[in-house]
Amino acid sequence: MEQVKVVLSDEEIPRQWYNIQADLPKPMLPPLHPGTGKPLAPEDLAPVFPMNIIEQEVSRERWLDIPEPVLEKYLLWRPSPLYRARNFEKLLNAPVKIYYKNEGVSPAGSHKPNAAIPQAYYNKEFGIKRLSTETGAGQWGSALAMACQMFGLGCRVFMVRVSYEQKPYRRIMMRTWGAECIPSPSDRTEAGRRVVAEHPDSPGSLGIAISEAVEDAVTSKDARYSLGSVLNHVLMYQTIIGLEAQKQLEKIGVYPDVVMGCAGGGSNLGGIALPYVRDKIFGKKVRIVGAEPSSCPTLTKGPFAYDFGDLAKMTPLLPMHTLGHDYVPAPIHAGGLRYHGMAPIISHLVKEGLVEARAYNQMETFDAGVKWARTEGFIPAPETGHVLAAVMDEAKRAKEEGKEKVILFNWSGHGLVDLAAYDDYLSGKLAPYELPDEEIKRALKAIDGHPKP
Ligand SMILES: Cc1ncc(COP(=O)(O)O)c(C=O)c1O
Repeated sequence: MEQVKVVLSDEEIPRQWYNIQADLPKPMLPPLHPGTGKPLAPEDLAPVFPMNIIEQEVSRERWLDIPEPVLEKYLLWRPSPLYRARNFEKLLNAPVKIYYKNEGVSPAGSHKPNAAIPQAYYNKEFGIKRLSTETGAGQWGSALAMACQMFGLGCRVFMVRVSYEQKPYRRIMMRTWGAECIPSPSDRTEAGRRVVAEHPDSPGSLGIAISEAVEDAVTSKDARYSLGSVLNHVLMYQTIIGLEAQKQLEKIGVYPDVVMGCAGGGSNLGGIALPYVRDKIFGKKVRIVGAEPSSCPTLTKGPFAYDFGDLAKMTPLLPMHTLGHDYVPAPIHAGGLRYHGMAPIISHLVKEGLVEARAYNQMETFDAGVKWARTEGFIPAPETGHVLAAVMDEAKRAKEEGKEKVILFNWSGHGLVDLAAYDDYLSGKLAPYELPDEEIKRALKAIDGHPKP
């Protein structure tokens, strides 16, 4: 019988997260204070995050021990299985071996709990009583709701309105785990009220929801903000995925030629890829590829610039690929990829030529998702459909070049709460939306006056 999956025992779970900052050949640019334009000091972030997390955000230590209470929660579903996708391989009929990490096995259905659990834990340790956050598709919001419940914290989630309406089950999950879920833009915050006054029908965006969640946190006593992607510490927590994958592939004597992930804010791509980027920095031959939507082509069409992480300019100026902080992406179903910016770590790695990026439209991604479901069984999240489209693309190239390739990718989540999206696709209601270049030019006016990296 051919081996289909590689599993690690509880004892084999990695005990540390990996921090790429320790190994970067060229250091990343610092985030800037929006008022002074000077590099941000850790204290500037104190109203937003607890100091123990801020220390990790700026740390250059290579390894961070995973605290025992976090490991205990991780063990509910980790180590996640590594599969070989033999049925999908057969369908593609190309000279490729495809391995994937199944992050859909977590209680919330995606990779997001990997970062939610440590954030809830460190906030609790610091004496915080409630977390406030935003969510796109609802994956992050539900993950944080669960994590807060596990550590006895309150949780308030601002959910992008279009997803709140498209995905009622995610908000029910959040409520089941004890969180409050509010459609954004809302009338709960200054930032939300401003948007509604100008655009009463706004579908919302992650940029707007972040503004609401940050405002809610900094104006409430004993509350802090929590972000599901983008920041250094979030990507570091997600490296558990790549560290497990390395152990699993080592067990069967395999090393990948290409490592892939979809990219919204960059956390699942960073999670699977950063341990391999380290290998690449130290001379291994491996390619890293991120897949993003052509309706929100941050890495493939956005410049590397200083920009705000949110619409209301409440965050520091981050050095990242961006489409401009006031860009509101089309309401495609992959809500988790509708973000104007990208993790500074991923942006830096793209700039340094260590990571490549490609964009796919939603017809390509749902086509890939349905092909996957009909071969491998598991129905992928619409976000995950992007990496599947990229895997198909990579297989096609391998066939054309007549080269054998081993592909490793991150299957970031299941789509069982996104079936309305599949219904739209299967009923012919979706179109292959691409962001027009004029719209990119318009949106980028928002960063005109910012300091240049
Ligand atoms: C299943 C899934 N994959 C990918 C993403 C994109 O986020 P990131 O780029 O941070 O991994 C999301 C975001 O919500 C998601 O839910």
